[in-house]
Amino acid sequence: MSYEKEYARSMEDPEGFWAEAAEGIDWYKPWDKVLDDSNKPFYRWFQGGELNTCYNAVDRHVENGRAEQAALIYDSPVTNSKKTITYGELKEQVATFAGVLAAQGVGKGDRVLIYMPMVSETVVGMLACARIGAVHSVVFGGFAAKELATRIDDAKPKIVLSASCGIEVKKIISYKPLLDEAINLSSHKPNHCVILQRPQLVAELQPGRDLDWDEACATAEPADCVPVAATDPLYILYTSGTTGIPKGVVRDNGGHAVAMKWSMKNIYNVDPGEVYWAASDVGWVVGHSYIVYAPLLHGCTTIVYEGKPVGTPDPGAFWRVISEHDVSVMFTAPTAFRAIKREDPEGKLINDYDMSKFRTLFLAGERCDPDTLHWAEDNLKVPVIDHWWQTETAWGIAANCMGIEQLPVRPGSPSKSVPGYDVRVLDSNGDDVAPGDIGSIMIKLPMPPGCLPTLWNNDERYVESYLSYHEGYYLTGDAGYKDEDGYLWIMSRIDDIINVAGHRLSTGGMEEVLANHPDVAECAVIGVEDKLKGELPLGMVVLKAGVDKAGDEIRAECISMVREKIGPVAAFKLVIIVERLPKTRSGKILRGTMKKIADGQDFKVPATIDDPAILSEISDALNSIGYAQT
Ligand code: COA
Ligand code: AMP
Repeated sequence: MSYEKEYARSMEDPEGFWAEAAEGIDWYKPWDKVLDDSNKPFYRWFQGGELNTCYNAVDRHVENGRAEQAALIYDSPVTNSKKTITYGELKEQVATFAGVLAAQGVGKGDRVLIYMPMVSETVVGMLACARIGAVHSVVFGGFAAKELATRIDDAKPKIVLSASCGIEVKKIISYKPLLDEAINLSSHKPNHCVILQRPQLVAELQPGRDLDWDEACATAEPADCVPVAATDPLYILYTSGTTGIPKGVVRDNGGHAVAMKWSMKNIYNVDPGEVYWAASDVGWVVGHSYIVYAPLLHGCTTIVYEGKPVGTPDPGAFWRVISEHDVSVMFTAPTAFRAIKREDPEGKLINDYDMSKFRTLFLAGERCDPDTLHWAEDNLKVPVIDHWWQTETAWGIAANCMGIEQLPVRPGSPSKSVPGYDVRVLDSNGDDVAPGDIGSIMIKLPMPPGCLPTLWNNDERYVESYLSYHEGYYLTGDAGYKDEDGYLWIMSRIDDIINVAGHRLSTGGMEEVLANHPDVAECAVIGVEDKLKGELPLGMVVLKAGVDKAGDEIRAECISMVREKIGPVAAFKLVIIVERLPKTRSGKILRGTMKKIADGQDFKVPATIDDPAILSEISDALNSIGYAQT
């Protein structure tokens, strides 16, 4: 197959292209229209069609001879345990848990919030929602109670699924107090919480409100799959926006199932029956798409890994999992490889394992620096494929589609647009820029199936955040260029989003927290380069006049406020106190210039700057903590 031909076909006849891909999914009722564009700029795929995502991910494989095949392998070095769940067993567990939800009055369209660690029950909970047409919203365990509360208030779940604890290498993170605090903080109150008790830490249950997961399953009547509309929501996944209020990305059932299934063969070149491993967390989009839905829709074996790339117990952990479970294709973030490389620079531990089944490594979530790419290629001796996408799309926008045609790798570029995506690089007038010129990366509407149809209960914010820059285009928020051969190069964000260890965070959200410190008059948070995590947030605070508290104390308070309000995942540990912040004459803080200074890059003094002398003060302050070194 030729990439150029497939791509051209997807552009010339998107409806024909995706109708053909939709044959990979079982439908209760075929669609009336492949692409409904009657309500622009809102596009809907497979209008009129009916299906069930859980049926496609689980039941049909049992019916088609995969009952004994492993659907999910749970591998947990942090609890020293492993278990394999076949498709037959997964069906039973999911049907039973769907019965638990149904018994509590959860039905089609009701929301279920999931705040759980990387255990198999989390996947069971997600699929159980899909089975009965409920809409799940998974919240990453590293977020604080306040972030959880914001999501509870927006999604208004009938039920929350949680666990007594998560385990971070050797630390036991008690989830229940965080959940209780979040429910206290939120205005919306869920009717019940179903709590998975883990032996490492048993939580106290609140009588009347909390149910014990295992006890509830013991008495539940299994529930069957219900048909839902292709356009009905499957899940909501909150992601950082440009303010402290996260955006509830909506995923539909039909388009999502079609895109997920198509991507497994065409992007990842995996066949049903093979073992596919995404080392991420179910709380992120990578986890939704490539730990749960895509591998299961394709009839693969997926791995739920409760561990880290290093420290559980050593930097050979990934190679152990690959060899022990015969992994064919793996997907993770470059930061994980930087962590391994730092501890085992020559990749010696790879030699301890039989990796003969391993074919391809895919990386995404942040820019893949060529050093990391080469290290992985040299040591693993398999193709290493960078691909670019975001929570909003659910799957690759640009990739080297290994199942179509392997293109030559250009280190630093995620290759070319995936079929279905008309990716453009535009200038501020909305015109295409010349090859090699940097612009705003946008996707011409309609986007392919799987991409967000809107934001939860917020069509207006969807249009305003993504569609209002240039009519007919979706704003990715990334800037970059296309080279002469159509390879994309993702260079930076155009907003305040930073990427910390592959986790997407809003510096605006952190500024909102710092601004609440009683001694802080003004603040700015920027992302500074970091060898391990790609970027780290760095806060600069200006104190109110007359504050005489010690600087160290204020810094420590700022750090703990961000940890408490946003969560440990923000990795907010750098704060400097400055006299003033550089601004334009109209009062806009020059964050971009400060970032360049911090990273030791060349920068131009902006013509609109109010007082250029402030830049050298900032440079000195950054220098004192090891930044701004040229
Ligand atoms: N529940 C509770 N706390 C969590 C958590 C969870 N699910 N996940 C992370 N945290 C905490 C960590 O314990 C850490 O807390 P600390 O400040 O007390 O040490 C903090 O959040 C930051 O975590 P993390 O980003 O994982 O950093 P780390 O220094 O512990 O590990 C890496 C660094 C590179 C090993 C790690 O980021 C990693 O494995 N990344 C893989 C990439 C990835 O999965 N990306 C997701 C998108 S594909
Ligand atoms: P998230 O929504 O958390 O998946 O984050 C998406 C953002 O991460 C993108 O908009 C990019 O800024 C960045 N990103 C993801 N993958 C890549 C990649 N392969 N190269 C460069 N940036 C990436």
